[in-house]
Amino acid sequence: MDTILISGGTGLIGRRLSYLLKSKGYKVHLLSRKSNPKNSLPTFLWNIDQYSIDDSAFNGVNHIIHLTGAGVANKRWTRKRKNEILTSRVDSTNLLYDTIKRLKVPLKSFVAASATGYYGSTTRDKIFKETNEPGNDFLSNVCELWEKAINQFEQLKIRTAILRTGIVLSKEGGALEKMTTPIITSIGNGKQFMPWIHIDDLCELYIKGIEDHKFQGVYNAVSSEHITNFSFSKVLSKIVKRPFIPFLAPKILLKLALGEMSSIILNGNRVSAEKIKQTGFKFKFENLNNALKDLL
Ligand SMILES: NC(=O)c1ccc[n+]([C@@H]2O[C@H](COP(=O)([O-])OP(=O)(O)OC[C@H]3O[C@@H](n4cnc5c(N)ncnc54)[C@H](OP(=O)(O)O)[C@@H]3O)[C@@H](O)[C@H]2O)c1
Repeated sequence: MDTILISGGTGLIGRRLSYLLKSKGYKVHLLSRKSNPKNSLPTFLWNIDQYSIDDSAFNGVNHIIHLTGAGVANKRWTRKRKNEILTSRVDSTNLLYDTIKRLKVPLKSFVAASATGYYGSTTRDKIFKETNEPGNDFLSNVCELWEKAINQFEQLKIRTAILRTGIVLSKEGGALEKMTTPIITSIGNGKQFMPWIHIDDLCELYIKGIEDHKFQGVYNAVSSEHITNFSFSKVLSKIVKRPFIPFLAPKILLKLALGEMSSIILNGNRVSAEKIKQTGFKFKFENLNNALKDLL
């Protein structure tokens, strides 16, 4: 079986993906900033700031899944944090590219994360497709530069795929954990769309990314259901049987509390799942109610 190196494999997506890859018989190696003796997977170290990497991480590796990136919603967007969000993605990709080129690693594929934030933090009726232009805010600029760095792998004739990912629903953390408060409330006016994907569907897409020889280029990794924050919160409150009080978190308060970062929860676009469905991929969870029932 092939060996997969996952960068950022210690995170929310990487942990579930490693488990699923292992259970399918793949060998999984992790690329991380720190060693963790509790993790049973072979872990290799890199230091993105110092642009250094353990070359032995690539021994026998057939595919790379690149997930590394400083959390976008974890800390206030100071200038320092914004720089970290950008460089953890772009510099890490460049470091991987330079190393693969230098060591001439015969990769079969390079599959990487990006985000639906590529299209910009706005709320519109337009349904964004992969061919649409990027938005013009901080996160869309980050995604644009990140994807540009990822696409360098095509120059090495390595099959390259990018998953422009929506909000990942998982019971282990992330957005769902933040939304599952004792009283469920919608955010701002609640009209913003929340492109979402169940973590297992996303992991299956990464697996398809390495297994399907025709899988190449950019794909939106979102379910096909377009749901607003108001409706999402209402469905969530029913599933967890907690009270739903709409509009408890007004725009102005969130802007004051979170600064520029508030844009990612106050705005949200509709994102098309058509291209990914045309690859023949069958989502296990296309309906939010079923996805939440499974997770919660
Ligand atoms: N979760 C979502 O809803 C979502 C939505 C859209 C896109 N994505 C993208 O998918 C990727 C994986 O998401 P995730 O939710 O699994 O992320 P995560 O849980 O935050 O994990 C990402 C990993 O990146 C590494 N990392 C964290 N901060 C870093 C920094 N400052 N510099 C370098 N590396 C750093 C960490 O690995 P080590 O500590 O082992 O180095 C961490 O485990 C990310 O690039 C994210 O932007 C996620």
